[in-house]
Amino acid sequence: MKNFYITTPIYYVNDSPHIGHAYTSLCCDYIARFKSLDGYDVRFLTGTDEHGQKVENAANIKQIKPKDFVDEVSENFLKLTNVLNLSNTDFIRTTQERHLKSCEHLWSKLFSNGHIYLDNYSGWYSVRDETYFQESELINGKAPTGAEVVWVEEPSYFFNLSKWQDKLLVFYNNNPEFILPRSRRNEVLNFVKGGLKDLSISRTSFSWGIKVPNDSKHIMYVWLDALTNYITYSGYGSNENDFKNNWPADLHVVGKDILRFHTVYWPAFLMAADLPLPKRVFAHGWWTNEGEKISKSLGNVINPFDLIDQYGLDQVRYFLLREVPFGNDGDFSKSHLVQRINSELANNLGNLVQRVTSFCLKNTMGKVPDHKDKFNKKDLEIINSFETELSTLRKLIDKQKLDESLKEIWIKITKSNKYIDDQAPWNLKNDDIERMNTVLYCLLESIRQIGILIQPIMPNSSSKILDIFGLQANQRSFKELASKLIVGTNLIKQDVIFPRIEIQ
Ligand code: MSP
Repeated sequence: MKNFYITTPIYYVNDSPHIGHAYTSLCCDYIARFKSLDGYDVRFLTGTDEHGQKVENAANIKQIKPKDFVDEVSENFLKLTNVLNLSNTDFIRTTQERHLKSCEHLWSKLFSNGHIYLDNYSGWYSVRDETYFQESELINGKAPTGAEVVWVEEPSYFFNLSKWQDKLLVFYNNNPEFILPRSRRNEVLNFVKGGLKDLSISRTSFSWGIKVPNDSKHIMYVWLDALTNYITYSGYGSNENDFKNNWPADLHVVGKDILRFHTVYWPAFLMAADLPLPKRVFAHGWWTNEGEKISKSLGNVINPFDLIDQYGLDQVRYFLLREVPFGNDGDFSKSHLVQRINSELANNLGNLVQRVTSFCLKNTMGKVPDHKDKFNKKDLEIINSFETELSTLRKLIDKQKLDESLKEIWIKITKSNKYIDDQAPWNLKNDDIERMNTVLYCLLESIRQIGILIQPIMPNSSSKILDIFGLQANQRSFKELASKLIVGTNLIKQDVIFPRIEIQ
């Protein structure tokens, strides 16, 4: 079995989960489920980033100890993974012992390889971004993100990032698809070509973090700590054998705001520690809400729990991934959400399933009818196109063209709807029962295939569809697309899968 390892960023626990967190996680879940149904042994990691000044400040405001604070907030993120029905295989917290060991191990390795030195840092720091900024990068005295910056002057360990500039450029050149989408890759290339400065990787002015080995006055820079989570899970610093099998990651999915950390700092740390590099970093865009930037001060933060309560989990999963070409920014609009639910889920997919199964319950005694092997060209197109469809989907998923992969499945659904209208089984009922049975067989078979293919995006609804045929767990993988429905199988009636949403 081939391995596939995918990660979400780990989420800061200074705040409650919002739509941005849900989005990154859902994109990863879609890919993870796809790979798993396609026969891969999938590792899918998500979790929480619990150290650093930002989190310490948030705990101080609440007047509770940072550890108590992170325990509480991390729970909300864990709850989100459950509510989103994520198939993650672990949930890492950077306050866990395994992570402490892995960070210490990485630090010691970088140190003994001669890539860390002690000096003084003086410069600007944005706590909200947990990022150092050059004077020249500031815009009107603020970080380019609009965050406040503070002047920091303290003893600090440095990582010799400047020495890795050429090696990084060679690496990007040899691995043209390491950073996707392409536009983002160009941004990173330009940044690295512009010259890299050594990076401050420890702080002494606060205490909430992992202590530097042999110098406990220093706390590791939260980004060095956070990025290391990806190898902690693979067994770094605790189980070398596991680590060999489980690293490198195939795909880090991140938001565009944290691309530099993942495509410049992270590969440089890994090279410096003699470790293999991840195969790809994909940066997705940001959501706005009805045209406005999402921010707490505007009071327009979208709460994923409320959204799911109101519209349903699979509906939200589908909408978020279908609405925006993966990699682009997107605008969240309730009217678009309702439109997609009504037209693409309720009308296109839901009606197909409803029409065909209700018709069979009345006209084929609720069983899969006999086709007697009398398939014409149109029938064969409907029941045998899954091989081409699957190979197209594989290519799209491997390039993270998530929205396109959904479009592809909906083409199949539309074709089946056209087939039912063209073949009109309700007319055949009166003069050609044999042909009616063949048509219905093809439709049921197409619905079975659609049910299998939509599992990664809508795990609950697809399960209801596959329950119509009483299929067991081992009959639902992509390999099973090739096994056809058995004539005579009892059909089990299901409730409406996608209720329409009334537009007020
Ligand atoms: N803790 C760091 C990541 C460390 S990974 C080693 C972090 N955390 S975060 O909680 O601030 O952000 C997590 C993810 O949410 C990022 O990928 C970010 O891009 C994403 N989003 C935050 N707001 C968003 C939107 N409005 N839209 C889409 N995604 C957004 O960064």
